[in-house]
Amino acid sequence: MKFFIDTANLDMIKEIDSWGILDGVTTNPSLVAKEGTDTPTRVAEIAKILGDRPVSAECMSMDAEGMIAEGRKLHAIAPNVNVKLPMCVESLKATRVLSSEGIDVNMTLIFSPLQALMAAKAGAAYVSPFVGRLDDIGTRGSDMLAETVGILYTYGFDTEVIAASIRHPTHVLDAADAGCDIATIPYNILKMMVSHPKTDEGIAKFKADYEKVNGPQ
Ligand code: E4P
Repeated sequence: MKFFIDTANLDMIKEIDSWGILDGVTTNPSLVAKEGTDTPTRVAEIAKILGDRPVSAECMSMDAEGMIAEGRKLHAIAPNVNVKLPMCVESLKATRVLSSEGIDVNMTLIFSPLQALMAAKAGAAYVSPFVGRLDDIGTRGSDMLAETVGILYTYGFDTEVIAASIRHPTHVLDAADAGCDIATIPYNILKMMVSHPKTDEGIAKFKADYEKVNGPQ
């Protein structure tokens, strides 16, 4: 299972990269806006840090022609930049064209397995089902995730499923249980996933016992 970080913050990306577990980055217009910089500049900076690992950058056009032009521009920033398109009829058309040119598309704002299936049929390299935003409206995001993975697996699509809109560590567990290829995880949740009170307790006990016979560390 791959871990992406869902952020446009360079310090956070660098820190998680230093842990040795970072497989990619997803951004969206809201995440870039928080950083107070423009999309092309920030995407170029992230792409450089990542080397050959993927970075998703979102298109803002709402018609296929605009999405194709914008997608080509974003991908021209660096070869590891893929294009995030919001799920709709126009983005299906754009996905077919961009993917035939070798430009990976991450179909975003997916809320149902059928949307994911259509995106996969159009040639999307990634689909991003939003777990947290479904939970927000009283629908189980984890069920939608599992159904999506099951359907794409049944039909042997190469499309990778990115569990997105992750709000807590249990969402990552749900994504892993469902067999998602990728989870795109906010920085604070990656931090939560590392720690466990029993680990802290164990470290303190070993340290204390070590020091009893070896002296202070
Ligand atoms: C996915 O790529 C999106 O950037 C992201 O996961 C959205 O998460 P949110 O619902 O917490 O905004």
